[in-house]
Amino acid sequence: MRLAWITDPHLNHCDLADWDRLVSLVRGGGYSAVLISGDISEGDDVVFQLRRMADVFDLPIHFVLGNHDFYQSSIATARAAVIEASRSHPRLDYLTDSAPLTIADSVALIGEDGWGDATVGDFENSPLRLQDFLLIDDFQAAPTADWKSILIRLGLESSERLKEKLEAALANHDRVLVATHVPPFRQACWYQGRTTDDFWAPFFVCGQVGEVLKRAAEQHPQKRIEVLCGHTHSPGVAWITANLTVTTAGAQYGCPGIAATIVIGPTEIELLGFNRRP
Ligand SMILES: [Fe+2]
Ligand SMILES: [Fe+2]
Repeated sequence: MRLAWITDPHLNHCDLADWDRLVSLVRGGGYSAVLISGDISEGDDVVFQLRRMADVFDLPIHFVLGNHDFYQSSIATARAAVIEASRSHPRLDYLTDSAPLTIADSVALIGEDGWGDATVGDFENSPLRLQDFLLIDDFQAAPTADWKSILIRLGLESSERLKEKLEAALANHDRVLVATHVPPFRQACWYQGRTTDDFWAPFFVCGQVGEVLKRAAEQHPQKRIEVLCGHTHSPGVAWITANLTVTTAGAQYGCPGIAATIVIGPTEIELLGFNRRP
């Protein structure tokens, strides 16, 4: 079982040559499926890009959405369009909308978009505000004083959906692969070889999803949870507990590629291209 892991391809920033290169990487890699951890495009283009990938790659595509996938839209509208597209295309699997999928013997795949949920770091004193606030209807239509509570609510919704799936997956599998867009821990929120500071953390860590993952790992010490995420565009690995690892993949605008080949072995999940020994 070999999966091509792609994160943050931002296909709206790509020209035809970038697209052709991505297609030959995916089609020439002997993969059985593709896993995408969000920021596929923007809200007005993401369904087109998903259908195009499913048709051209000719492989199952398991994916979550990132914050950019809701740009030029509201979150509910973009998500509903992607759910509809995914349910009507046999090769598209929007993990946020899907039950745990057994991808190998005793290995489950689950996923959840996640959101920088303002629960880690210092939202009040941070001078940073993302484009999200200008380009996603939910924020644009709300007073700035409400932004923090919207972020917290989005993170809570993500954590509740993930909790249910994680419990179901752990009940029947020894290993669970979790795809999400936003790093769930500060230690997994890499930028140029360092982890994030208090000003970036509110927008780059989904703390409530992290809580759910950590609790599940502690409650199931014999089981293994592997989390794959993106969003920071910088790579790194974080060992949160003995049985919970988070790998963050890098990305570059206009240069979509395969961040790693995921090889599901009989006892280990290997990520070719990452040194993941603690
Ligand atoms: Fe991104
Ligand atoms: Fe992102």
